Amino acid sequence: MSEDLKATARAAIADSVAATDPDYPKLHLAPPVGRLNDPNGLVFWQGEFHACYQFNPCFPERKLTYWGHASSSDLTNWKHHEPAIVPDSEYDRDGAYSGSAIVTDGQAWFAYTGNVRFPDGGRATHQCLVSSPDLRTFTKFQNNPVIPAPPAGYTQHVRDPQVWRDSDGSFRMCLGAQRENLTGTALLYRSPDLLQWHFEGELQFPDAQGTFDDLGYMWECPSLVKVPDQSGALHDVLIFSPQGAEPGREGFENIFPTCYVIGQLVGTSLTNTGDYYELDRGFEFYAPQVFANTPEPMMLAWAGNASEDNQPSLDFGWVHAMSLARELQIRDGRLVQRPKLDLAQAAAVPNPPTPGSHWQAWHAMTGARSWQLRTELDLSSDETWELRIGSAMVFVEISFSATQMVVDRSATRYPKDNRRTVTLPHQGAIPIEIIHDRSITEIFVGDGELSFTMRTYLDPSEAAVWLRSNQRSASGAVVGRRFD
Ligand code: FRU
Repeated sequence: MSEDLKATARAAIADSVAATDPDYPKLHLAPPVGRLNDPNGLVFWQGEFHACYQFNPCFPERKLTYWGHASSSDLTNWKHHEPAIVPDSEYDRDGAYSGSAIVTDGQAWFAYTGNVRFPDGGRATHQCLVSSPDLRTFTKFQNNPVIPAPPAGYTQHVRDPQVWRDSDGSFRMCLGAQRENLTGTALLYRSPDLLQWHFEGELQFPDAQGTFDDLGYMWECPSLVKVPDQSGALHDVLIFSPQGAEPGREGFENIFPTCYVIGQLVGTSLTNTGDYYELDRGFEFYAPQVFANTPEPMMLAWAGNASEDNQPSLDFGWVHAMSLARELQIRDGRLVQRPKLDLAQAAAVPNPPTPGSHWQAWHAMTGARSWQLRTELDLSSDETWELRIGSAMVFVEISFSATQMVVDRSATRYPKDNRRTVTLPHQGAIPIEIIHDRSITEIFVGDGELSFTMRTYLDPSEAAVWLRSNQRSASGAVVGRRFD
């Protein structure tokens, strides 16, 4: 290939004005220029968190998919690096698609999907490897692809390898796949050395009574991760993004959902499974991945959705961001997600108003565009507690009643989907945490039992926080911290 694609990315980054956008997040990873989607190759390495991601530095003019690369010591201050994978080989010429990281023998290895398209509309999919001794230089394996084609019985929609080391020392790979009958599934491979792989079979769910036989038409970004419960016992959790799953129950409102199911991995079977659940109920959330090499499972997700790129930030040449990193745990049979925020960076905000029946500004928050708020609510059936972020004209509202949370972003600069109602995970006293960062807001209810991620484009020149409540009994104190 004649074009120097690394130079193309460098030039686009050098010309970028993204960071001058008042909507550019302060605590969240966003692309230096262009478009970001899935997190890829997340790994903790020599005291730093490294996050790669699906990256198109020339969006929207061109269709190019690199692996962008950033690192951080605290998961909130991100430093951008040169792209880790450039789609300049025959086997990845139409995209270095998603994949994961593993550290072994002092090297970091990255497994990814090389995507190739043909003029007749067909495509080919190849699983490939990259290694790095230092997370500065990245070398494609000379014998790529290590899995040249999907096994018999599956279409060319086989991608997004997740690799981990089994207790017997061998390596395993989980891939998202589509069967020839156009249903989604996950495939498992095994390798003695990361280089030679053999197909083990589909991931089976022997205790699920067929629930997963026909759940959507393609599973993207599956990963099998070990997550501890309160007693420290480890469970195997499948996190996956089943395109086309419409189970006909509350939730599943986005174009594609992201789900999890808890079980125990025995060979190629996820046994003892219960129901599957949506991972996040917000307007923007997809394709999460867990860091390799951390003591606790820590997840990042794309705060975006397929084909929803037409956002106000494009005026400054960038689109999409990652969620905050979230630590995962199992509590009472459910996954809980707790945001990792370095509170030492933040100043406590004094004098929260006691909310009354009219909106009251929290004056010490005026002008704040990156902040955190915590409180505890205990609402009876006719009580409400409401938060408004923004100005009188441009705002997002988050309202809690005894059983529901309602999020309304119809008065923001990106009102897509407008309003969503979510049943609270339980009634009675319930902790609430809200993190707002310029144009992205994450809500955590019940110490991570429920999470809600969304983009909130407001008026950066009139940032304010308002509270209102008809609550009769005293609510828990509101605590705030500013990051700017
Ligand atoms: C999920 C996804 C992956 C693919 C990548 C391409 O958002 O479609 O399945 O590898 O994005 O950018």
